[in-house]
Amino acid sequence: MRLLLYSLLFALPLAAQNPALMDEVVRDPNEDVYIGKKEHIAAGEQLYSVACSGCHGPEGEGGRGPNLAIGPAAQNKRPTQIHRSIKNGVPGSDMPPYGSLPEDQLWQLTAFVSSLSRPAYEMDIPGDSKAGQALFYGKMACSNCHMIRGRGGALGPDLSNAGLQNYVLQLREGVLEPNKRITPGFDPVRVITKSGDTIEGVAKNHTNYSMQLIDRHGNLHLLETRNLQEIVFLKNTWMPANLTERFSADEIQNVLAFVSRQAIRVPSPDDAGAEKESN
Ligand code: HEC
Ligand code: HEC
Repeated sequence: MRLLLYSLLFALPLAAQNPALMDEVVRDPNEDVYIGKKEHIAAGEQLYSVACSGCHGPEGEGGRGPNLAIGPAAQNKRPTQIHRSIKNGVPGSDMPPYGSLPEDQLWQLTAFVSSLSRPAYEMDIPGDSKAGQALFYGKMACSNCHMIRGRGGALGPDLSNAGLQNYVLQLREGVLEPNKRITPGFDPVRVITKSGDTIEGVAKNHTNYSMQLIDRHGNLHLLETRNLQEIVFLKNTWMPANLTERFSADEIQNVLAFVSRQAIRVPSPDDAGAEKESN
């Protein structure tokens, strides 16, 4: 109600003055035809890999052009605005106009770029998620450290909702380059107690007086800092950083497919972009 009032009072007069806000209002009906549609996203990905990946990175991670998955260049932009940027380019920058492409290709590109900033769950990551499940609990031993719906270890983050909490890019990074960004609340630490015991694990809560530490076997320690000789925050996560050396590309793809399918609340079909069945 309050929101409605605000929009009545402010948004319309502002939109009339400010062309950037006007963009929010005008919605191209092509959004319904292309956005969130698997076949158009796939076609857009092909075009993207030829025309755009050189500047925006193979997965939209950025380079000469900005990151299109995380950050202001794509997130929270309406597809209509993304379409316009691709068509007209960004004057005064390196972003060229693609207005010479047929309209359907422009929309396919828009569908792909928009998909980059949707949760991984919606993106139909290729791979065999059943095989990935077996790997997760078996050969790859992810479950030693990660819990899904109450089953597994506690050293790493609970992955029960990983498909909805992460973009594809974040998920790939989380699995393949875990030291690039250590998940908040999972800082790797080693402490030595005054009685000479060494405990290694992740620091959950840490004040000047106390620390909650989950050790590498998943046990919780409530420590008082006055009983500690030494606290060392480590540079590298406990999450194995060499998966690509130990497992095949297929195995990694399968485990990514499995993790991307994890959602606590499966989005309803009316939620934007979610148009596939769960398994
Ligand atoms: C030569 C390098 C280059 C190429 C090729 C390129 N871009 Fe860009 N792109 C950029 C740069 C640089 C920006 C940042 C522009 C700015 O300053 O806002 C950008 C911005 C964007 C934006 C955000 C625009 C906005 O409104 O903020 C989108 C979306 C985008 N590019 C999509 C694409 C797509 C899709 C393709 C391929 C069809 C592509 N780009 C090809 C360099 C490039
Ligand atoms: C030895 C323990 C351990 C094992 C084994 C392990 N992880 Fe992790 N993982 C962690 C820890 C600790 C973190 C949090 C710190 C970080 O960001 O690396 C983490 C982070 C992650 C993240 C990022 C989660 C987020 O919310 O940011 C993902 C995804 C992930 N792991 C998936 C996997 C998968 C898939 C496997 C099996 C191939 C695996 N992990 C094996 C300990 C482990």
